[in-house]
Amino acid sequence: MNKYALITGATFGIGYELAKLFAADGHNLILVARNKNRLSEISKELIDKHNIYVRIIEKDLSLPNSAKEVFEEINQENLEVECLVNNAGFGNHGKFWETDLKTELDMIQLNITSLVQLTKLFLPKMIANRSGKILNVASTAAFQPGPFMNIYYATKAFVLSFSEALASELKGTGVSATTLCPGPTKTEFQSRAEINNTRLVKTRIMSFMSSEKVAKIGYNGLMNGKRLVIPGLLNRIGVTGVKFAPRILTTSVIRLLNNDK
Ligand SMILES: NC(=O)c1ccc[n+]([C@@H]2O[C@H](COP(=O)([O-])OP(=O)(O)OC[C@H]3O[C@@H](n4cnc5c(N)ncnc54)[C@H](OP(=O)(O)O)[C@@H]3O)[C@@H](O)[C@H]2O)c1
Repeated sequence: MNKYALITGATFGIGYELAKLFAADGHNLILVARNKNRLSEISKELIDKHNIYVRIIEKDLSLPNSAKEVFEEINQENLEVECLVNNAGFGNHGKFWETDLKTELDMIQLNITSLVQLTKLFLPKMIANRSGKILNVASTAAFQPGPFMNIYYATKAFVLSFSEALASELKGTGVSATTLCPGPTKTEFQSRAEINNTRLVKTRIMSFMSSEKVAKIGYNGLMNGKRLVIPGLLNRIGVTGVKFAPRILTTSVIRLLNNDK
């Protein structure tokens, strides 16, 4: 009864859809995000529908120490995290010398540092139990540089590299690490990153998947212990193409897609 799946960024988009999938399979949940009202709403919805335990933690994971505070709260209550989903993340847009440094340092703290800290803190117990699952949400942005979303793409490259290496280290431990790399997905992400005027979003040159579909594919991949999950055939073809194309070419293509002029 004290076993839980912890999901960061569970209030909207992919994280919310993942929470619904865990709940439908009977997992108790620890939901972490900043929006307390939305966390309470979701908690009520999932408890009523699935008769599970839900613990909500209002936390800004872009603040140093916040990951440790989450860990300590959970430990104090003797809750055991058997699945860790590092999903919370955001991006921004613009030329590097014009974008706000504080926003980007917060992004690095959220997308990278908190993800690493939460993994570091919760993994030892999983290893001791010889059981546990970690899902790290990267992006197809992880596979090449991203002009005009420079820092965001770089954070996702970190997550992909870190998470794939971790999966390899975990071989034989009973614990798995899955990296989910969604392509463009319809969520709050686009308006929060202020990318609604970019070619990628305006022209819909690449089809946007729904967050329900991305979460379902990610959830199945996690449950099956897959190391890397890239939802959607077109996204998988794109990532394969990137591996063989010259780096200068892929960077130029992303520059075109991310441009809002
Ligand atoms: N949408 C896409 O096209 C796309 C593509 C590839 C990868 N991804 C990745 O997928 C993940 C989920 O994004 P999404 O598309 O579902 O975006 P979203 O709809 O904007 O949801 C982001 C979630 O992260 C939470 N969050 C944001 N800042 C936070 C903070 N400082 N502390 C704690 N929680 C925070 C938000 O909750 P609060 O606002 O309540 O804190 C929200 O629940 C992200 O890592 C994103 O980079 C998205």
